[in-house]
Amino acid sequence: MKIRRVIRWSVVAILVALIGWIFIAYWTSTNDCDHKIALVNPMKAIRYCEYGSPDVLRFEDVEKPVPTEHLVLIKVRAASLNAIDAYLIRDTWLVRLFFGLRKPKKTGLGRDVAGQVEAVGKDVTQFKPGDEVFGISRTGSLAEYAVTPERALVIKPPNISFEQAASLPLAGLTALQGLRQGNIQPGQKVLINGATGGVGTFAVQIAKSLGAEVTAVCSTRNLDLVRSIGADHVIDYTKEDFTKSDQHYDVIFDNVANHSFAERRRILNPKGICVLAGMGGAKTKGREAIPRIIANFTARGLSSFIDQKFVIYVTRMSKPDLEMLAGLLEAGKLKPVIEQTYRLNDAREALRRFDQGHAQGKLIVTVEQDNKS
Ligand SMILES: NC(=O)c1ccc[n+]([C@@H]2O[C@H](COP(=O)([O-])OP(=O)(O)OC[C@H]3O[C@@H](n4cnc5c(N)ncnc54)[C@H](OP(=O)(O)O)[C@@H]3O)[C@@H](O)[C@H]2O)c1
Repeated sequence: MKIRRVIRWSVVAILVALIGWIFIAYWTSTNDCDHKIALVNPMKAIRYCEYGSPDVLRFEDVEKPVPTEHLVLIKVRAASLNAIDAYLIRDTWLVRLFFGLRKPKKTGLGRDVAGQVEAVGKDVTQFKPGDEVFGISRTGSLAEYAVTPERALVIKPPNISFEQAASLPLAGLTALQGLRQGNIQPGQKVLINGATGGVGTFAVQIAKSLGAEVTAVCSTRNLDLVRSIGADHVIDYTKEDFTKSDQHYDVIFDNVANHSFAERRRILNPKGICVLAGMGGAKTKGREAIPRIIANFTARGLSSFIDQKFVIYVTRMSKPDLEMLAGLLEAGKLKPVIEQTYRLNDAREALRRFDQGHAQGKLIVTVEQDNKS
């Protein structure tokens, strides 16, 4: 009896402590928007102080970042949007759990960046002021200046524009590292589902450069686009379900995850690989997103018992990979598809467009001198 009572009271104490901790964590979760301090070195930036739709984005003055130790300060010339930027501002319990219970802890937005080195921290050895660079930003690339560790940057080839360079990092690395998971050999048949977004347009071109025979799945208005970037065959998903065809593939690079494990297995060769890259861009929201994530992990688990493989991966910053992609761009073997370029103060409009999930290739945000006014 005594033990039971001890257990009961222990459970009650743990629950009370947990509720108290959540309550305190919620109310102390704040961000720099709440502290009104005089700015010493102001710069224009996009930031979000609350979770919500793209409407929560603000274009305002913030403190210019300082490059300490191994950090590089970049004068941003161009940035591009990725699915992660759209996911991070969303008001979902998953985002709140990891990025701030009540308000987002970090208020800067944007990962991909291209620009000119303005200053470097004392431990930086590979870059100097004036270098033209691109890579992945840590503080938010939708700003006049951004800082990032030197390991997340590479030199921009002189014959590619800042806009082209900014289109490359996350989408290009996701396509390259995902296709590598597929272990593509020349002559193999590769199907790319979701072939016309940021990741898909790079995946089609990289798969072609690896010698694959590429089938691209997209909507009607994008058929010519995927042909123009090298797809050998196209499937219009509004008219035909690719999992019902008699064709079989060595690799499926799946950006959308809108078919079941059994459906995708049916069109994979006996030792084929399905690379689970994404879940259809930013338009896949809430109720649609969670089942797709669960289905991807289930497919990954189930494939441990069969010869066909379903693989999940997370894109990593890799200097050699980014340099390799930059080399392909420099040599004209990879051509970024850019639907539209927006100015920094129109970034909200750009994110609205991205949120629809049907951009053709990449959306770029450029940072001009006149943003300073
Ligand atoms: N694994 C990782 O670490 C990693 C890293 C970065 C990104 N990702 C993921 O990669 C995915 C793609 O990102 P993105 O930047 O390329 O997004 P995006 O630019 O918004 O592209 C989304 C694509 O999905 C296509 N699509 C939408 N519904 C479709 C359907 N029913 N059937 C076939 N295609 C459909 C769209 O084509 P239409 O316009 O023709 O419909 C578009 O090509 C996202 O889910 C993202 O989360 C994963």
